[in-house]
Amino acid sequence: MTNKKKYLITSALPYANGPLHIGHLAGAYLSADVYARFLRLKGEDVAFVCGSDEHGAAITIRAKKEGLSPKDIVDKYHHLIKDTFDKLGVTFDIFHRTSDPLHHETAQEFFKKLDEKGDEFIRETNEQYYDEEYNQFLADRYIKGTCPNCDHEEAYGDQCEKCGTALSPLELIDPKSTLSGNTPILKETTHWYFRLDKHEAWLKEWIQEGKFRGEVTHNPNDWKNHVTGQCLSWLDGELKPRAITRDLDWGIPVPLKEGEGKVLYVWFDAPIGYISATKAWAKANGKNWEDYWKGEDAELVHFIGKDNIVFHCIIFPAMLKAYGDVSEPKYVLPINVPANQFVNLENQKISTSRNWAVWGHEYLEDAKDKVTNHIDVLRYVLIKNMPEQKDSEFTWENYRELNDTDLVGKLANFMNRVLVLTHKYYNGVLPTFDPATSMNGRSEGEQTTFKVLTQAIGEKVAALGQAIDRYEFRIALKELIDIASFGNEFLQHNEPWKKQKTTPEEVKAILSAGLQLVTVFSVITQPFIPNTSAKLRTILNLPAVKDGDYNILLENLKAGEALLPAGHQLEKASHLFTKIDQEFIQFQMDKLEENNETLSDLTPLKEEATFDDFMKMDIRTATILEAEKVEKTDKLLKLKVDVGFEERTVVSGIAQHFSAEEVIGKKVLLLANLAPRKIRGVLSKGMILMAEGEEGKLVFVSPPEGFGNGHTVS
Ligand code: MF3
Ligand code: ZN
Repeated sequence: MTNKKKYLITSALPYANGPLHIGHLAGAYLSADVYARFLRLKGEDVAFVCGSDEHGAAITIRAKKEGLSPKDIVDKYHHLIKDTFDKLGVTFDIFHRTSDPLHHETAQEFFKKLDEKGDEFIRETNEQYYDEEYNQFLADRYIKGTCPNCDHEEAYGDQCEKCGTALSPLELIDPKSTLSGNTPILKETTHWYFRLDKHEAWLKEWIQEGKFRGEVTHNPNDWKNHVTGQCLSWLDGELKPRAITRDLDWGIPVPLKEGEGKVLYVWFDAPIGYISATKAWAKANGKNWEDYWKGEDAELVHFIGKDNIVFHCIIFPAMLKAYGDVSEPKYVLPINVPANQFVNLENQKISTSRNWAVWGHEYLEDAKDKVTNHIDVLRYVLIKNMPEQKDSEFTWENYRELNDTDLVGKLANFMNRVLVLTHKYYNGVLPTFDPATSMNGRSEGEQTTFKVLTQAIGEKVAALGQAIDRYEFRIALKELIDIASFGNEFLQHNEPWKKQKTTPEEVKAILSAGLQLVTVFSVITQPFIPNTSAKLRTILNLPAVKDGDYNILLENLKAGEALLPAGHQLEKASHLFTKIDQEFIQFQMDKLEENNETLSDLTPLKEEATFDDFMKMDIRTATILEAEKVEKTDKLLKLKVDVGFEERTVVSGIAQHFSAEEVIGKKVLLLANLAPRKIRGVLSKGMILMAEGEEGKLVFVSPPEGFGNGHTVS
């Protein structure tokens, strides 16, 4: 007996710090889902695993913004994300989470194994950025600055999301704490570093030549150019040891006495999440997880977005190799990492902070009663526009167009015509026909028979499958629509609706061929648009598609056999897709524009402040009593202000907008508990609140004339 391949398919674990948008879906989830579904259709042994990524600064920062605990945040988003995946039909065998004890154990054991090996980690004490106001070291997303590589001003301490470069905080130009906004100080701390430098040589050989431990593991030409390219730019002799621990209080504790108070870096534990998820799935399903990770026939494929390439093609493989060096059986490395690029939305970069996104859970709500088969429509449009080689575009207009032309005009149109005529002429029962009947083939005049036609379809179906095998989902989907076009042309050339009066025997063969194609569609649509497949199976009065059905289909088609027997009774047809109302598109556009307007004309909203943040500010009504210009400055006025309980001095940068004389007697609002600061030698206690209007014009925010001083504002 030959061993069967064990496929382990992973999708990047989404951070449980926000909902999913179409960029995520097209990037790492629908691709993987199509692939996993297709493998199952071929009867392959598949574990498709994912889960939420619940550690790291991404989570704690979000928690702070929402005024919730990190635990509350991950619970909230884990469930929202999982629900979105379920509804969209993403068929993970397990959607685990990295807060699960099984994962904590697995990650800690992994760390220990590498630590005990002796030569993988170094422990180093050096200076790191520290926020004095918050008494916290600033790693990863807690620090922002200008990227030394591309000048992007919002690069994080671990990575520039614009150019993808992995960074260390010390490389940032003009670093700022994202907690206080202050420039951080340097302070000593000790961390564990993974000796990536030691792994560079073999990684290069593996990426470039597809060789690992002296054996050929894959054909490097099968990998996408942009993936290999990014990897090689890393493997330039400059790989450095990388810190894999952090001074944070949220995460997996470093499992060593000396590591007390520290946690594993999120990018160390998260990919191990794939392993923990597999363990949990295996346990629940009577499988052996090691078969999928370490077996001779294990095939690992990571589906990710391009910003995750270095972690999946360099760091995680190095971790797996290091572990395998001291344990048997050894982990395999990914056979491919078909990373996708990014999806733009209406010609702009998707931005979660600017709310320039189409959110999965919102689409599901909005489209539920407005768009026929709305889940499949979205899946279709996203797969069709998958950013496989370069960044792609999602526009609502294109969404409508693809629905109306491809799904309604080609796919549904073909099947409806065949089904309606079958009901009309034969009451929905498959007719008996003469297999020798000659019909028009693809081009006018080209004669063919049921068997030849069936075999030709078989070739197209095989081509579709091969495209999926190569991770070319856009091409695969094009094959699918081409088959529908072929079906439409076939009907057009044969005009059964005319021939029914003259040569009804011929029509039996024509419609049987048409139904053959409908049956083919009921199988091959399943990986892409599964609800359509399910509907078709119901209409065809067949059981739902099951594992292995693609193979049976191909065999039957190759042999030219009919998929449905004569005498088979069909169910009533129903609409598979319908044209989309312009109103729905307009609604979606308006929704986006609303975000855009509020954000493009005015300054973007600052980070969310909690109620407590706000309550810390003591704002009082006050009156300006005296004013004079601060000597040798253009901008500053020195004011004496009556705050009700005292008079105090405030220096205000408004001299270019107001003369000293005109502000005397003004009613104002004063931030009264702002820490006193010396400005040009004058101690200023508080800040006058101003509103900035068009073209930077300043106005006072004033209580009405006669209002008393010292009253609180909230
Ligand atoms: N949470 C990460 C992101 O959204 C991806 C983690 S992938 C894993 O970018 F491999 F670490 F799990
Ligand atoms: Zn950059």
